Amino acid sequence: MEKYVINGGHPLKGEVEISGAKNAAVAIIPAALTVNGICRLENIPQISDVDMLLTILRHLGAKVRMINPSAVEIDCRQVSLRDSPYDLMRKIRASYYLIGAMLARFGKAKTTMPGGCNFGVRPIDQHIKGLTAIGADLDVRNGFVFADARGGRMSGGRVYLDKVSVGATMNIMIAAVLANGKTVIENAAREPHIVDLANFLNSMGADVRGAGTDCIKVNGVERLHGGTYTIIPDQIEAGTYMIAAAATQGEVLIKNVIPKHLECISAKLRETGTEVSESGDSVLVRGASKMNHISLKTLPYPGFPTDMQPQMSVLLCLADGTSVITEGIYDNRFKYVNELRRMGACIEVDGRVAIIEGGHRLTGAPVAACDLRAGAAMVIAGLCAQGRTEIEDIHYIERGYQDMVGKLRNLGADIRIVEYPDMEAAEESLEIG
Ligand code: EPZ
Repeated sequence: MEKYVINGGHPLKGEVEISGAKNAAVAIIPAALTVNGICRLENIPQISDVDMLLTILRHLGAKVRMINPSAVEIDCRQVSLRDSPYDLMRKIRASYYLIGAMLARFGKAKTTMPGGCNFGVRPIDQHIKGLTAIGADLDVRNGFVFADARGGRMSGGRVYLDKVSVGATMNIMIAAVLANGKTVIENAAREPHIVDLANFLNSMGADVRGAGTDCIKVNGVERLHGGTYTIIPDQIEAGTYMIAAAATQGEVLIKNVIPKHLECISAKLRETGTEVSESGDSVLVRGASKMNHISLKTLPYPGFPTDMQPQMSVLLCLADGTSVITEGIYDNRFKYVNELRRMGACIEVDGRVAIIEGGHRLTGAPVAACDLRAGAAMVIAGLCAQGRTEIEDIHYIERGYQDMVGKLRNLGADIRIVEYPDMEAAEESLEIG
């Protein structure tokens, strides 16, 4: 087993390079199933969710060749549905994109219900509503999702999403690209990774228009050809390092970003008194010795991202006064607060609202990552806490952050990965023995 060990109190200084966007890559990789040719993807992040999806494609018969650590060639022309790796599919949320991709390619699909971080109910009813509207019959039973295109090919159609859903928007888009007709998705999500998926599909010969607005139109085509596509930088990784710089009162140049994607994060950081300046494809963040309390609510893009909520909570523990964070997307995304309380945080949670009493220095403690972004928040807490913090369950963090320890050490952080015995496994083996 591995954990992070952090000795806090070192301001982050220097430059950090942002990697490719996880939530773009985990949609684009399954979408390669719709391409009748070789897809070369550049700037893919080296994270376990990407590894998992490439492994799933290999199990389905795709040829997957790593060109270098951040570039891969995927050839799905020999793929069949004979032996889908259901044990892998159920481990990640993005496996639901395989439904849309298989429906587009084969006119049928069988996957597991998706896995992913657990912060409340995460249904897929909007995926089902949309895929049904454009020509598929879906059935969820025994933990599996079964889908069949009526007549063997998706027909296109119109759907109004009852909830702004990133996953449903992208899944319907993927399923629609080879449909025998036109698809209109209304009340669509507008995140940067949705635009990136549309740009990828269009670079392979699809006809997707309006991505980034709340109305996306897809004219189905007969086939998609191969090509090369470079994935955008990760908005949430960039935001995480921005907050880490602010929380440690450091000065960090965050490179390879699209400042437009960070506008809401930059705006809220400036409200705390943190200095954020943009130039080209970089943002410079200078922490303030005294920070103001603020209020925010997480919203679909271009609002403040829910995936930045735990990280911002840590920062606001250090601000003067009382801050309020309202979680506008998920029912229960404050589970990490109990871990932060072990480090001295004063946060009260009532449903979707967290009241954060600032002005308290955090102190190091043994804690655990409860999900991907909560884990990143615990790292930030450890970086600015007094003393030593140990973080277990770091596999969550490694699902979405490329080489976080290496990048932070380059910025002067005292953080390292430490092996420790898996006592639970040892006890189990003793019981068995
Ligand atoms: C994507 O999840 C991201 N994951 C999440 O990032 C992110 O938090 C979320 O979008 C919101 O931005 C990936 O892209 C792999 P949604 P997704 O569908 O698609 C409800 C991270 O840390 N909903 O936009 O599952 C849902 O319960 C991860 O990188 C339905 O009710 O999110 C939620 O309350 C965590 N029915 C809201 O909509 C549905 O059919 C938004 O969910 C679908 C969603």
